[in-house]
Amino acid sequence: KRHLISAADLTRDDAVHILDTAEEMARVGDRTVKKLPALRGRTVCNLFFEDSTRTRISFEAAEKRLSADVINFAAKGSSVSKGESLKDTAQTLAAMGVDAVVIRHSASGAPYRLATSGWIDAPVINAGDGTHQHPTQALLDAFTMRRRLIGPDAGLGQDLTGKHVTIVGDVLHSRVARSNVDLLHTLGAHVTLVAPPTLLPVGVETWPCEVSYDLDSALPKADAVMMLRVQRERMNAAFFPTEREYSRRYGLDGDRMAKMPDHAIVMHPGPMVRGMEITAEVADSERCTVTEQVANGVFTRMAVLYLLLGGKTDGGTTHERTPG
Ligand code: CP
Repeated sequence: KRHLISAADLTRDDAVHILDTAEEMARVGDRTVKKLPALRGRTVCNLFFEDSTRTRISFEAAEKRLSADVINFAAKGSSVSKGESLKDTAQTLAAMGVDAVVIRHSASGAPYRLATSGWIDAPVINAGDGTHQHPTQALLDAFTMRRRLIGPDAGLGQDLTGKHVTIVGDVLHSRVARSNVDLLHTLGAHVTLVAPPTLLPVGVETWPCEVSYDLDSALPKADAVMMLRVQRERMNAAFFPTEREYSRRYGLDGDRMAKMPDHAIVMHPGPMVRGMEITAEVADSERCTVTEQVANGVFTRMAVLYLLLGGKTDGGTTHERTPG
Protein backbone atom coordinates (compact mmCIF):
# COMPACT_ATOMS: atom_id res chain seq x y z
CA LYS A 1 0.00 0.00 0.00
CA ARG A 2 1.23 3.50 -0.81
CA HIS A 3 -0.70 5.63 1.70
CA LEU A 4 -2.27 5.22 5.15
CA ILE A 5 -5.53 7.16 5.11
CA SER A 6 -7.99 4.99 7.05
CA ALA A 7 -7.80 2.07 9.47
CA ALA A 8 -10.60 0.55 7.41
CA ASP A 9 -8.17 0.12 4.48
CA LEU A 10 -6.02 -2.34 6.45
CA THR A 11 -6.56 -6.09 6.19
CA ARG A 12 -6.01 -8.29 9.23
CA ASP A 13 -2.63 -9.36 7.80
CA ASP A 14 -1.59 -5.74 7.05
CA ALA A 15 -2.40 -4.72 10.62
CA VAL A 16 -0.66 -7.69 12.26
CA HIS A 17 2.39 -7.08 10.08
CA ILE A 18 2.53 -3.42 11.21
CA LEU A 19 2.17 -4.47 14.87
CA ASP A 20 4.92 -7.09 14.49
CA THR A 21 7.19 -4.52 12.82
CA ALA A 22 6.45 -2.07 15.65
CA GLU A 23 7.46 -4.81 18.12
CA GLU A 24 10.75 -5.18 16.26
CA MET A 25 11.24 -1.39 16.46
CA ALA A 26 10.56 -1.52 20.22
CA ARG A 27 13.14 -4.27 20.68
CA VAL A 28 15.77 -2.34 18.77
CA GLY A 29 14.89 0.69 20.94
CA ASP A 30 15.15 -1.42 24.09
CA ARG A 31 18.68 -2.32 23.10
CA THR A 32 19.40 1.45 23.30
CA VAL A 33 20.25 1.75 19.60
CA LYS A 34 19.40 5.41 19.18
CA LYS A 35 18.99 5.44 15.39
CA LEU A 36 18.33 3.07 12.52
CA PRO A 37 19.64 4.06 9.07
CA ALA A 38 16.48 2.86 7.26
CA LEU A 39 15.31 6.29 5.99
CA ARG A 40 18.69 7.99 5.59
CA GLY A 41 18.50 10.45 2.70
CA ARG A 42 14.68 10.52 2.72
CA THR A 43 12.74 13.67 3.65
CA VAL A 44 9.46 13.50 5.58
CA CYS A 45 7.24 16.56 6.00
CA ASN A 46 4.92 16.84 8.99
CA LEU A 47 2.06 19.02 7.81
CA PHE A 48 -0.04 20.08 10.82
CA PHE A 49 -3.06 22.28 10.11
CA GLU A 50 -4.56 21.46 13.53
CA ASP A 51 -3.04 21.43 17.03
CA SER A 52 -1.30 18.32 18.30
CA THR A 53 1.12 17.36 21.04
CA ARG A 54 1.49 13.56 21.01
CA THR A 55 1.03 12.79 17.31
CA ARG A 56 3.27 15.59 16.04
CA ILE A 57 6.09 14.90 18.48
CA SER A 58 5.96 11.13 18.11
CA PHE A 59 6.00 11.27 14.30
CA GLU A 60 9.02 13.56 14.52
CA ALA A 61 10.73 11.21 17.00
CA ALA A 62 9.93 8.19 14.79
CA GLU A 63 11.30 9.91 11.68
CA LYS A 64 14.50 10.95 13.45
CA ARG A 65 15.03 7.45 14.90
CA LEU A 66 14.85 6.14 11.33
CA SER A 67 17.44 8.79 10.26
CA ALA A 68 15.03 10.69 7.96
CA ASP A 69 15.41 14.41 7.30
CA VAL A 70 12.39 16.13 8.87
CA ILE A 71 10.51 19.26 7.79
CA ASN A 72 7.92 20.50 10.28
CA PHE A 73 5.09 22.67 8.97
CA ALA A 74 2.49 24.20 11.28
CA ALA A 75 -0.39 26.14 9.74
CA LYS A 76 -0.10 28.67 12.55
CA GLY A 77 2.62 31.09 11.49
CA SER A 78 2.51 29.94 7.85
CA SER A 79 1.01 31.50 4.71
CA VAL A 80 -2.19 29.50 5.35
CA SER A 81 -3.18 32.51 7.51
CA LYS A 82 -2.93 34.61 4.30
CA GLY A 83 -5.41 32.33 2.53
CA GLU A 84 -3.06 29.84 0.88
CA SER A 85 -4.88 26.63 -0.08
CA LEU A 86 -3.97 23.01 0.68
CA LYS A 87 -3.22 22.59 -3.03
CA ASP A 88 -0.72 25.45 -3.14
CA THR A 89 0.85 24.39 0.15
CA ALA A 90 1.23 20.82 -1.19
CA GLN A 91 2.71 22.01 -4.48
CA THR A 92 5.18 24.20 -2.59
CA LEU A 93 6.34 21.15 -0.63
CA ALA A 94 6.50 19.05 -3.80
CA ALA A 95 8.74 21.67 -5.40
CA MET A 96 11.12 21.37 -2.45
CA GLY A 97 11.18 17.57 -2.76
CA VAL A 98 9.65 15.47 -0.01
CA ASP A 99 9.45 11.66 0.12
CA ALA A 100 6.43 11.40 2.43
CA VAL A 101 3.82 13.67 4.00
CA VAL A 102 2.26 13.25 7.43
CA ILE A 103 -0.88 15.40 7.56
CA ARG A 104 -3.29 16.48 10.30
CA HIS A 105 -6.22 18.62 9.22
CA SER A 106 -9.52 19.77 10.72
CA ALA A 107 -11.33 18.85 7.49
CA SER A 108 -12.39 15.22 7.18
CA GLY A 109 -11.05 13.95 3.84
CA ALA A 110 -8.06 16.32 3.52
CA PRO A 111 -5.46 13.46 3.60
CA TYR A 112 -7.45 11.50 1.00
CA ARG A 113 -7.58 14.60 -1.21
CA LEU A 114 -3.83 15.06 -0.87
CA ALA A 115 -3.17 11.37 -1.65
CA THR A 116 -5.36 11.29 -4.76
CA SER A 117 -5.02 14.82 -6.18
CA GLY A 118 -1.67 14.49 -7.92
CA TRP A 119 -0.50 17.72 -6.24
CA ILE A 120 2.37 15.81 -4.68
CA ASP A 121 3.83 12.41 -5.60
CA ALA A 122 4.61 10.92 -2.19
CA PRO A 123 3.03 8.55 0.34
CA VAL A 124 0.51 10.32 2.58
CA ILE A 125 -0.04 9.30 6.21
CA ASN A 126 -3.16 10.55 7.95
CA ALA A 127 -2.32 11.95 11.40
CA GLY A 128 -5.99 12.75 12.13
CA ASP A 129 -8.58 14.40 9.89
CA GLY A 130 -11.63 16.10 11.37
CA THR A 131 -14.00 13.55 12.87
CA HIS A 132 -13.05 10.94 10.24
CA GLN A 133 -9.95 8.84 10.99
CA HIS A 134 -6.73 8.64 13.02
CA PRO A 135 -5.27 5.33 11.84
CA THR A 136 -1.88 5.47 13.58
CA GLN A 137 -3.69 6.12 16.90
CA ALA A 138 -5.74 2.93 16.38
CA LEU A 139 -2.57 1.01 15.51
CA LEU A 140 -0.72 2.20 18.62
CA ASP A 141 -3.78 1.39 20.71
CA ALA A 142 -3.94 -2.14 19.24
CA PHE A 143 -0.19 -2.51 19.84
CA THR A 144 -0.66 -1.48 23.48
CA MET A 145 -3.59 -3.90 23.94
CA ARG A 146 -1.70 -6.79 22.36
CA ARG A 147 1.37 -6.18 24.53
CA ARG A 148 -0.64 -5.82 27.75
CA LEU A 149 -3.33 -8.48 27.17
CA ILE A 150 -1.31 -11.14 25.31
CA GLY A 151 2.36 -10.17 25.78
CA PRO A 152 5.20 -8.82 23.60
CA ASP A 153 6.49 -12.30 22.64
CA ALA A 154 3.27 -14.31 22.71
CA GLY A 155 1.54 -11.53 20.77
CA LEU A 156 3.76 -11.77 17.68
CA GLY A 157 1.66 -12.81 14.68
CA GLN A 158 -1.51 -12.59 16.79
CA ASP A 159 -4.59 -10.44 16.43
CA LEU A 160 -7.04 -9.49 19.22
CA THR A 161 -9.63 -12.21 18.65
CA GLY A 162 -11.87 -12.65 21.68
CA LYS A 163 -10.83 -9.46 23.47
CA HIS A 164 -13.56 -7.10 24.67
CA VAL A 165 -12.91 -3.38 24.28
CA THR A 166 -15.27 -0.71 25.64
CA ILE A 167 -14.94 2.80 24.16
CA VAL A 168 -16.60 5.50 26.26
CA GLY A 169 -17.58 9.12 25.66
CA ASP A 170 -17.83 11.57 22.78
CA VAL A 171 -18.02 9.09 19.90
CA LEU A 172 -19.79 11.68 17.73
CA HIS A 173 -16.69 13.85 17.29
CA SER A 174 -14.06 11.13 17.69
CA ARG A 175 -11.83 10.03 14.82
CA VAL A 176 -10.08 7.84 17.42
CA ALA A 177 -13.32 5.92 18.06
CA ARG A 178 -14.00 5.45 14.33
CA SER A 179 -10.47 4.21 13.62
CA ASN A 180 -10.50 1.92 16.64
CA VAL A 181 -13.88 0.38 15.78
CA ASP A 182 -12.61 -0.35 12.24
CA LEU A 183 -9.24 -1.77 13.28
CA LEU A 184 -10.44 -3.71 16.33
CA HIS A 185 -13.18 -5.33 14.24
CA THR A 186 -10.56 -6.31 11.62
CA LEU A 187 -8.40 -7.76 14.40
CA GLY A 188 -11.27 -9.86 15.78
CA ALA A 189 -12.01 -7.90 18.97
CA HIS A 190 -15.52 -7.28 20.27
CA VAL A 191 -16.19 -3.55 20.69
CA THR A 192 -18.88 -1.85 22.80
CA LEU A 193 -19.42 1.90 22.46
CA VAL A 194 -20.83 3.63 25.55
CA ALA A 195 -22.05 7.22 25.17
CA PRO A 196 -24.98 9.51 25.82
CA PRO A 197 -27.41 9.41 22.88
CA THR A 198 -26.50 13.03 22.00
CA LEU A 199 -22.83 12.04 21.50
CA LEU A 200 -23.44 9.12 19.14
CA PRO A 201 -23.37 9.66 15.36
CA VAL A 202 -26.31 9.02 13.06
CA GLY A 203 -25.89 5.53 11.56
CA VAL A 204 -23.81 4.12 14.47
CA GLU A 205 -26.10 1.07 14.44
CA THR A 206 -24.46 0.03 11.15
CA TRP A 207 -20.94 0.04 12.69
CA PRO A 208 -19.42 -3.37 13.54
CA CYS A 209 -19.89 -2.99 17.31
CA GLU A 210 -22.46 -2.89 20.11
CA VAL A 211 -23.83 0.37 21.50
CA SER A 212 -24.86 0.98 25.12
CA TYR A 213 -25.84 3.97 27.27
CA ASP A 214 -24.90 2.18 30.51
CA LEU A 215 -21.21 2.29 31.47
CA ASP A 216 -21.59 0.28 34.70
CA SER A 217 -22.99 -2.78 32.92
CA ALA A 218 -20.22 -2.70 30.25
CA LEU A 219 -17.26 -2.65 32.67
CA PRO A 220 -17.25 -6.20 34.15
CA LYS A 221 -16.65 -7.89 30.78
CA ALA A 222 -14.06 -5.41 29.41
CA ASP A 223 -10.41 -6.31 28.80
CA ALA A 224 -9.71 -2.68 27.91
CA VAL A 225 -11.71 0.48 28.59
CA MET A 226 -10.84 3.42 26.35
CA MET A 227 -12.00 6.82 27.61
CA LEU A 228 -12.59 9.65 25.10
CA ARG A 229 -12.37 13.38 25.65
CA VAL A 230 -15.51 15.48 25.16
CA GLN A 231 -14.41 17.62 22.20
CA ARG A 232 -15.88 20.99 23.11
CA GLU A 233 -13.98 22.69 20.29
CA ARG A 234 -16.10 20.76 17.77
CA MET A 235 -19.42 21.49 19.57
CA ASN A 236 -21.92 24.30 19.63
CA ALA A 237 -21.70 25.77 23.16
CA ALA A 238 -25.44 25.17 23.63
CA PHE A 239 -24.75 21.42 23.54
CA PHE A 240 -21.90 21.27 26.08
CA PRO A 241 -22.74 18.62 28.67
CA THR A 242 -22.21 19.82 32.25
CA GLU A 243 -19.08 18.38 33.81
CA ARG A 244 -20.88 17.11 36.88
CA GLU A 245 -23.69 15.36 35.02
CA TYR A 246 -21.34 13.91 32.39
CA SER A 247 -18.81 12.54 34.89
CA ARG A 248 -21.59 11.07 37.05
CA ARG A 249 -22.86 8.91 34.18
CA TYR A 250 -19.88 8.50 31.82
CA GLY A 251 -16.76 9.34 33.84
CA LEU A 252 -14.35 6.68 35.08
CA ASP A 253 -13.51 6.98 38.78
CA GLY A 254 -11.97 4.56 41.27
CA ASP A 255 -15.30 2.93 42.18
CA ARG A 256 -16.11 2.24 38.56
CA MET A 257 -12.59 1.02 37.79
CA ALA A 258 -13.04 -1.56 40.58
CA LYS A 259 -15.85 -3.12 38.50
CA MET A 260 -13.39 -4.02 35.74
CA PRO A 261 -11.68 -7.44 35.73
CA ASP A 262 -8.30 -7.43 37.52
CA HIS A 263 -6.32 -7.79 34.28
CA ALA A 264 -8.22 -5.04 32.42
CA ILE A 265 -6.48 -1.81 31.37
CA VAL A 266 -7.67 1.80 31.13
CA MET A 267 -6.69 3.64 27.95
CA HIS A 268 -6.96 7.23 26.78
CA PRO A 269 -5.62 8.72 23.51
CA GLY A 270 -4.98 12.08 25.20
CA PRO A 271 -5.31 14.90 25.79
CA MET A 272 -7.20 14.01 28.99
CA VAL A 273 -9.59 16.31 30.80
CA ARG A 274 -9.12 15.18 34.40
CA GLY A 275 -12.35 15.42 36.36
CA MET A 276 -14.55 15.16 33.25
CA GLU A 277 -14.10 11.74 31.59
CA ILE A 278 -11.45 10.40 34.00
CA THR A 279 -10.49 11.16 37.60
CA ALA A 280 -6.89 11.83 38.60
CA GLU A 281 -6.97 8.63 40.70
CA VAL A 282 -7.66 6.54 37.58
CA ALA A 283 -5.39 8.54 35.25
CA ASP A 284 -2.45 8.07 37.62
CA SER A 285 -3.17 4.42 38.45
CA GLU A 286 -1.00 1.46 37.39
CA ARG A 287 -3.83 0.24 35.18
CA CYS A 288 -3.87 3.38 33.05
CA THR A 289 -1.71 3.00 29.90
CA VAL A 290 -1.81 6.62 28.70
CA THR A 291 1.95 7.25 28.81
CA GLU A 292 2.67 3.72 27.54
CA GLN A 293 0.42 4.51 24.56
CA VAL A 294 2.54 7.59 23.84
CA ALA A 295 5.78 5.55 23.96
CA ASN A 296 4.22 2.84 21.79
CA GLY A 297 3.15 5.53 19.33
CA VAL A 298 6.78 6.14 18.39
CA PHE A 299 7.39 2.43 17.64
CA THR A 300 4.13 2.12 15.71
CA ARG A 301 4.82 5.23 13.61
CA MET A 302 8.37 4.00 12.96
CA ALA A 303 6.82 0.79 11.62
CA VAL A 304 4.35 2.64 9.38
CA LEU A 305 7.05 4.96 7.98
CA TYR A 306 9.45 2.07 7.50
CA LEU A 307 6.91 -0.09 5.66
CA LEU A 308 5.68 2.76 3.44
CA LEU A 309 9.09 4.27 2.70
CA GLY A 310 11.76 1.76 3.61
CA GLY A 311 10.69 -1.18 1.45
CA LYS A 312 10.87 -1.44 -2.31
CA THR A 313 7.50 -1.06 -4.00
CA ASP A 314 6.29 -3.38 -6.71
CA GLY A 315 2.81 -3.10 -8.11
CA GLY A 316 1.50 -1.32 -5.02
CA THR A 317 2.80 -3.93 -2.60
CA THR A 318 5.32 -2.95 0.07
CA HIS A 319 8.04 -5.53 0.62
CA GLU A 320 9.41 -5.54 4.11
CA ARG A 321 13.06 -5.45 4.99
CA THR A 322 14.50 -6.48 8.30
CA PRO A 323 14.90 -3.34 10.45
CA GLY A 324 18.50 -2.35 10.95
N1 CP B 1 -3.96 11.37 20.63
C1 CP B 1 -3.72 12.48 19.90
O1 CP B 1 -3.97 12.53 18.68
O2 CP B 1 -3.17 13.51 20.61
P1 CP B 1 -2.69 14.91 19.98
O3 CP B 1 -3.92 15.64 19.51
O4 CP B 1 -1.97 15.62 21.09
O5 CP B 1 -1.80 14.57 18.81
